Amino acid sequence: WKFLRVTPKQSFLIIFFPVFYSGLNFIDLMVRQGNIDNPPKTPLVPGFECSGIVEALGDSVKGFEIGDRVMAFVNYSAWAEVVCTPVEFVYKIPDDMSFSEAAAFPMNFVTAYMMLFEVANLREGMSVLVHSAGGGVGQAVAQLCSTIPNVTVFGTASSFKHEAIKDSVTHLFDRNADYVQEVKRISTDGVDIVLDCLCGENTGKGLSLLKPLGTYILYGSSNMVTGETKSFFSFAKSWWQVEKVNPIKLYEENKVIAGFSLLNLLFKQNRGGLIKGVMDKLLNLYNNKKIKPVVDSLWALEEVKEAMQRIHDRGNIGKLILDVEKAPTPLVRNSSKEDNEKLTSNQY
Ligand SMILES: NC(=O)c1ccc[n+]([C@@H]2O[C@H](COP(=O)([O-])OP(=O)(O)OC[C@H]3O[C@@H](n4cnc5c(N)ncnc54)[C@H](OP(=O)(O)O)[C@@H]3O)[C@@H](O)[C@H]2O)c1
Ligand SMILES: *[C@@H]1O[C@H](CO)[C@@H](O)[C@H](O)[C@H]1NC(C)=O
Ligand SMILES: *[C@@H]1O[C@H](CO)[C@@H](O)[C@H](O)[C@H]1NC(C)=O
Ligand SMILES: *[C@@H]1O[C@H](CO)[C@@H](O)[C@H](O)[C@H]1NC(C)=O
Repeated sequence: WKFLRVTPKQSFLIIFFPVFYSGLNFIDLMVRQGNIDNPPKTPLVPGFECSGIVEALGDSVKGFEIGDRVMAFVNYSAWAEVVCTPVEFVYKIPDDMSFSEAAAFPMNFVTAYMMLFEVANLREGMSVLVHSAGGGVGQAVAQLCSTIPNVTVFGTASSFKHEAIKDSVTHLFDRNADYVQEVKRISTDGVDIVLDCLCGENTGKGLSLLKPLGTYILYGSSNMVTGETKSFFSFAKSWWQVEKVNPIKLYEENKVIAGFSLLNLLFKQNRGGLIKGVMDKLLNLYNNKKIKPVVDSLWALEEVKEAMQRIHDRGNIGKLILDVEKAPTPLVRNSSKEDNEKLTSNQY
C-alpha cells in the first residue's frame, strides 16, 4: 500500500486512509458464497465499511483535512489496512464516538433509517415487525423505533438472544415460532411495517400481516445462506415474482410493497448525496444519545474465518467488527490438555 500512498492526486475527489476497524456484515457471507447478483471478479477484498484517519486527499477535496477521524462506505475492499474511496462516501466521526463504534455504524443504521423513514413512513403509534432482531440491522431498527413515541416493535430472533435483547423490542418471538399467529393474537389487524430479510416463504406471511396502508419491505435474503456454496438466488427471485406479488390484490387491500438495497443505492444508483443527509440526521441522534451501535465482538483480520462462522451459526448479538491492529488470538492455546480438547471439539 506504499504505492497507493503516493498516488492520491490521480483523482481529485478521493480520500485515502489507514483503516483501524471494519464492519463485518451478513452480506459479506453472501458475497463469499456467490449469493449476490453480478459479483465482482476474483480476487477481491471484501468489506463495505470501515473507520480510520484521513491520510491523503485528492486535489480538490473540500471539507476534510489530513488527520480527520472518519468512517466510510467502500465499494468492496474495506477489510484492508488502507482504503481509498470517493469523498461522497466518507463521514466525520463525532468526538464521542470510538473508531470501533464508527465501523459498526454506517451500514446498520443507514439501512434501518432508510427503510423506516424514507421507504415506509414510521410515525407515532405505528407498529413494526423485524426479523433477526438481535442482529446488527435488527438492533438499529429497534433503537430507531424507540426515537418515535408509542411505536410497537415485534421481533423474531433465536431464543438464546431473548434475554439480552428483550428490552429493545416490545414483543419477541422465537425465530421458529408461528409469528403470524403470535402477532395477530396481540394485534388483530396486524402491523404497519414489515421488514423482511428472509426472502421467500416469509413474503406471503409478511404481506398477510399488513394493516391497510401498511408497507412491506424486502431487504435481504439471509435464508439463502446455507451450508452450501451454491446460489439459489435467481431461483428465489423468480419464485417471488411469479407466486407472491399480485398487484390487483395490493390495490384492493391497500398495501405497499417495496424493496431496499443500500449498496445498490450508493454504488449503482448514485445516491451518495441522499445518504449524506441521512448520515447527518443519524449522527445527530447519536450525539443526543438516542442511538448507539451494539457491538457483538472484535476480531483480528486473520480471524475473519472464525468471525464469519459466528454470524453464520447465528451466534452474534449486534455487530461483528474486524480490528486491523489486533493480534490474532492463538487458535490452539498452551493451556491444559482438557482445554485443548474442548477447543478442538469447537472446531478451532
Ligand atoms: N438491503 C440492504 O441494504 C441491507 C443492508 C444491510 C443488511 N441487509 C440484510 O439484513 C440482514 C441482516 O444483516 P446483518 O448484517 O445485520 O446481519 P445480522 O442480523 O447481524 O446477522 C445475521 C442473523 O440473521 C439470522 N439468520 C437468518 N437466517 C440465517 C441464516 N440462513 N444463516 C445465518 N443466520 C441467519 C441470525 O439471527 P437469528 O437466528 O436470531 O434469527 C443471525 O444471527 C441480512 O439479510 C442482510 O443481507 C440488507
Ligand atoms: C399508541 O398507539 C396505539 C395504536 O395507534 C393507540 O391505540 C394508543 O392509544 C396509543 N397510546 C398512546 C399512549 O398514545
Ligand atoms: C461498485 O462495484 C461494483 C462491482 O464491482 C461495480 O459494478 C460498480 O460499478 C461499482 N460502483 C462504483 C460507484 O464504483
Ligand atoms: C500460555 O503460557 C503462558 C506462560 O506459561 C501464560 O502466561 C499464558 O497465560 C498461557 N496462555 C493461555 C491462553 O493459557
